[in-house]
Amino acid sequence: MIIFARGARTARMAVIAAAAALAVPLVVAPPAAADSPLRVHAAARGKFIGYAANTGPLANETAYRNIAATEFNQVTAENAMKWDSTEPSDGNYTFAGADQVVAFATANNQQVHGHTLVWHSQTPGWVQGLSATAMRTAMQDHIATVAGRYANNPALVSWDVVNEVFDDNGNMRTSFWYNTLGASYIADAFRYARAADSNARLCINDYNVEGINAKSTAMYNLVRQLRADGVPVDCVGFQGHLAIQYGFPSQVQQNMERFAALGVQVRVTELDVRMQMPRDSSKDTTQATYYRNVVQACLAVTACAGITIWGFTDKYSWVPDVFGGEGAALPWDANYSPKPAYTAIHDALDDGSGPGPDTTPPTTPGTPTASGVTSSGVSLSWAASSDAVGVTGYDVLRATGASGGTFAVVGTPTSASFVDSGLAASTTYRYQVRARDAAGNLSALSPVVSVTTTAGGGGPGPGPSSCRVAYTISPWGGSSGFTAGVTLTNTGTSTLSGWTLAFSLPTGQRITPPGWSATWSQSGQAVTATPLSWNSTLAPGGSTTIGFNGTHTGGTGEPTTFTVGGSSCTVV
Ligand code: G3I
Repeated sequence: MIIFARGARTARMAVIAAAAALAVPLVVAPPAAADSPLRVHAAARGKFIGYAANTGPLANETAYRNIAATEFNQVTAENAMKWDSTEPSDGNYTFAGADQVVAFATANNQQVHGHTLVWHSQTPGWVQGLSATAMRTAMQDHIATVAGRYANNPALVSWDVVNEVFDDNGNMRTSFWYNTLGASYIADAFRYARAADSNARLCINDYNVEGINAKSTAMYNLVRQLRADGVPVDCVGFQGHLAIQYGFPSQVQQNMERFAALGVQVRVTELDVRMQMPRDSSKDTTQATYYRNVVQACLAVTACAGITIWGFTDKYSWVPDVFGGEGAALPWDANYSPKPAYTAIHDALDDGSGPGPDTTPPTTPGTPTASGVTSSGVSLSWAASSDAVGVTGYDVLRATGASGGTFAVVGTPTSASFVDSGLAASTTYRYQVRARDAAGNLSALSPVVSVTTTAGGGGPGPGPSSCRVAYTISPWGGSSGFTAGVTLTNTGTSTLSGWTLAFSLPTGQRITPPGWSATWSQSGQAVTATPLSWNSTLAPGGSTTIGFNGTHTGGTGEPTTFTVGGSSCTVV
């Protein structure tokens, strides 16, 4: 078994497969955005991602049902809506399989694409032997009954009205339809379909029309002519039955674009990528590239509604039955393990925007607490905000004076603390903070805290304006501990006495007391260090190294701003 290592996602898929195989209730933790199923990412990009449903395992195979329900937001019945399934004998309709697919889709919030109303294959012999008049009537009745059955069902949104009307050279396929009725059966089928379901999107569908070639150009010309004639062709389906040994079709995106310019929607309707067996990792990689290329082409074309994969597990694929010695065409293997193709599809769909626009702001931060107030600076910390997705930082706003004035942003720390500097002595400032998330949502402003700087002009508070800090963090392998060291150097021209070093630790980091070579304290993420007797005086050029052990919750980033006596130090 080849598993493409993708950490959490692969693990989650393995859990799904294992739970399904054991037929136990599936309990999967809510995925992180990047780990979301295909349908979440596709929806975020405004596309559908679908599969062709095989009614056998859809009815009774837990692993199949779980993936079908979880990963896809669109479905096409692989066979259950075809003529030989729905009207095997004249006027006798059976919808068990078709209804089963629609019910599963409805239960799982998936849209259904009907496949297919008029095709030369899988159409019973009784149709093929009819006279022209009787055949046209049979076609009209069939479309009216089958499309009409789901016309008011909101799940069924589109139909393949005609399928594979061209031969491999781009000439009209000389099927019984064409031979009996001439090319007019195509326009008639679309008109009958519109009459049966005025809301469904009506598609023409074919294979080997993914790139620009003679056959796709024939399709292009036909669609253009049909629409010019007022025939209700709304969409063009490119099946996408690809094979790695034949190369990737050329100009797939450009082909979609030229059809889109006709005013039709386009879609990839039956994507699979087969290979000559046996499967190996090199072939898997090539296959993944093909899948990714198709997804990227669709993403690049606004008129491309989405992509349907023709099945999803190698356990159920039409390929080995038709192409001897070929197979492994789908993104999951026969044991329901995801292959590199799955990862390629997922990552192509996942642009990092997550499952949809995040419009929920973070909660309001707590009132800032001031500490380490000097004549020119103050350390602020506050109770952190929370957010549905994650707080990415805070805005610190400051106004001058005990009242009045205008609040303006003076800092944008990534954790719930901030050291302000460059303040005037004996002056009152007011601060409030707000949180932001990755989507740019801003929380409400916190309550205000007032701070009055000290008088300055000597004493222990003010320090030199010249200092340098070298900070090192050494995470302890395999645990949440770390050791930090800080070398403070007096780069000024006068002696530094009774200094106070202040900085903010990144979110999730905490000092484990007592530390060494200084007296350490932490409030929120704001940290201060004051010297011991032996290192309280630093001559010009002198330095001292102090440190502490700490814990983290995954982030081992370093503080970015250090102050001594409220004045910023150079950080090296
Ligand atoms: O249902 C019968 C079953 O009763 C019988 O025992 C068995 C014996 O072979 O056959 C079963 O029917 C098969 C049917 O699939 C359902 O499994 C047919 O033989 C078989 O030919 C049919 O194949 C389907 C094929 O269309 C028919 O041309 C494939 O599953 C289906 O994937 C394939 O799908 C087509 C699209 O509709 C159009 N584009 C090409 C694509 C691939 O060929």
